[in-house]
Amino acid sequence: MAKLVRIAQISPVMPNHLMGTLSLCAERESAYGKGAESMRCLVTGAAGFIGSHLCEALLLEGNSVVGIDSFVPYYPRSVKERNIGDLRTHLCFAFYECDLRTDSLAPLMDGVEVVFHLAAMPGLLLSWTNFDLYMTCNILATQRLLEAARASGTVREFLYASTSSIYGRDVIGPETTMPQPASPYGITKLAAEHLIRTYHEQFALPTSILRYFSVYGPRQRPDMGYTIFIDNILHGRPITIFGDGNQSRGNTYVSDIVRATILAHQHFHSGTTYNIGGSEEVSANQVVCLLEEIIGMEAVIQHTPARPGEQQRALAHTALAQERLGFMPHVPLREGLMAQVAWQRRQMGSPA
Ligand SMILES: NC(=O)c1ccc[n+]([C@@H]2O[C@H](COP(=O)([O-])OP(=O)(O)OC[C@H]3O[C@@H](n4cnc5c(N)ncnc54)[C@H](O)[C@@H]3O)[C@@H](O)[C@H]2O)c1
Repeated sequence: MAKLVRIAQISPVMPNHLMGTLSLCAERESAYGKGAESMRCLVTGAAGFIGSHLCEALLLEGNSVVGIDSFVPYYPRSVKERNIGDLRTHLCFAFYECDLRTDSLAPLMDGVEVVFHLAAMPGLLLSWTNFDLYMTCNILATQRLLEAARASGTVREFLYASTSSIYGRDVIGPETTMPQPASPYGITKLAAEHLIRTYHEQFALPTSILRYFSVYGPRQRPDMGYTIFIDNILHGRPITIFGDGNQSRGNTYVSDIVRATILAHQHFHSGTTYNIGGSEEVSANQVVCLLEEIIGMEAVIQHTPARPGEQQRALAHTALAQERLGFMPHVPLREGLMAQVAWQRRQMGSPA
């Protein structure tokens, strides 16, 4: 079993001399509309793409955040270390290198009121060949975290980052649409949803599920389409489009996903599942054209057969999130892609 290694400035239970800092932060107005009440929260997958942005936003809201991550080597540890570089210097952030599958989770729950569970093995392709990794990181890890939350006596909200992949190939309907996942990834994420529902029903654990739709922006995972497209165009390398390129997405800029997640906490409705996504539907071919324009370079395109399990159409039906959370995506695709291109250019050391 891996040893819990704490990497932070403060102890996980807020010491008295730091309470001043926390309450000063707590007086801030919330950037998300409703008055902010500071809380102690746990973010799993804190060193990942979305988790690191969420931690930053929660800290800005004046909360104290315990972040955990096991640095699954699906993509390089150095990328994840960079994601949490700034977080590590924050007084109200405590980071633990911890594997949800094996490590003792009880100590991490000390005083935690809200759990944001984002840790998972994402991505479709690898899930066909390394099912064990998906089964353990997405199902077993979720079950162990639910048990720890239930036993804690302090957790009053458990929010889970699920995915549009639970629906299957064509995704345009509301949350009540029959799930028909088309990949082992989607199947394991759906299984975790069922575990969460069961803990809610059997043990009255207050839970809520957010089904994220294709997220992009700075720190997007290196295996994801837009990161690869941008990187290859910038380096003059060919880009691969799977299938005919007409598969479409309603992409979600990372700050919109983070905002929706915090809104789901601020307007918490236990037992509720929300679709969260952007509203501009574009095909892979259209995105490449847009990127060519933003970057000012032409892409060299090669087509290969569609990947098994790939969604043909995914556009979030967000009426419930609009009604209950007041959620609307704010960042237009062009603006979001410009921010991602600028960020990737900075990583390469070239001017934005
Ligand atoms: N990025 C998207 O477009 C997208 C879309 C839909 C849903 N999601 C969901 O959002 C969440 C975050 O996705 P992301 O794109 O930021 O992925 P990511 O891989 O960047 O982040 C996930 C983090 O979880 C950590 N992790 C995995 N297994 C763990 C374990 N057993 N113990 C501790 N840490 C563990 C990983 O090391 C990683 O840093 C995931 O649950 C994913 O399924 C993402």
